[in-house]
Amino acid sequence: MSGDPTGAAPRRLRVAIDGPSGAGKSTVARALAKALGYTYLDTGAMYRALAATAMSQGIAADDEEALGRLARTLRFRFEPGPAGGQRVFVDGRDVTNEIRSSAVGMAASAVSALPAVRAALTGEQRRLGEGGGVVMEGRDIGTVVFPDAEVKFYLDAAPDERGRRRLRDLEARGESPSLGEVRRDIAKRDHQDSTRALAPLRPADDAVRIDSTRMGVDEVVQEMRRVVRERE
Ligand code: DC
Repeated sequence: MSGDPTGAAPRRLRVAIDGPSGAGKSTVARALAKALGYTYLDTGAMYRALAATAMSQGIAADDEEALGRLARTLRFRFEPGPAGGQRVFVDGRDVTNEIRSSAVGMAASAVSALPAVRAALTGEQRRLGEGGGVVMEGRDIGTVVFPDAEVKFYLDAAPDERGRRRLRDLEARGESPSLGEVRRDIAKRDHQDSTRALAPLRPADDAVRIDSTRMGVDEVVQEMRRVVRERE
């Protein structure tokens, strides 16, 4: 039942969640999608999958022509994974684990600045999300991919807290960088992602901003659900 007095079914919206790395986007986006019965789409995973494929094929991170061609021809597939997670396949190959390394994260940030790459992946993301009923997380969803998204969030957290969260993620997958290294990587990625010419990371003017530094996951998701419910 919807809260609508006419009894109409709630609209299935496009929900954009943008923000810097380590802000908690993936965790809350997954939980929000589950709570709403929406599809979760991790656009960073597409840039990561492209970067990982390029690395495995020996394509340099600044070879725009080859990377653009690769971005236009790769076939992405997402499948539900354990614990509300998602498995990512490119051209039928399961790349879920390999795309989470810090090396692939840095390479994804580099290739994502290239216009030919952005054109291809932005087009694919629009195709995947156009029907609504999606929670899409990334850097430019509310500004470029779906500037007319019905709901936009900009999720941020203090750099120290983002560093600690990212360190926990990397440790869980067996990497053991120091907190200092993780913080430096995050600062570098923030700088690259927010100063590039095309689709830089920035809050959309009409985004609801949430600072998750001192908030638990449930609290953030609850706040987001409240905003979504108002617009259904
Ligand atoms: O969210 P993430 O850490 O998985 O993203 C990896 C990189 O991909 C990030 O540093 C910048 C890029 N990216 C982007 O440019 N636009 C998006 N919508 C999502 C990610």
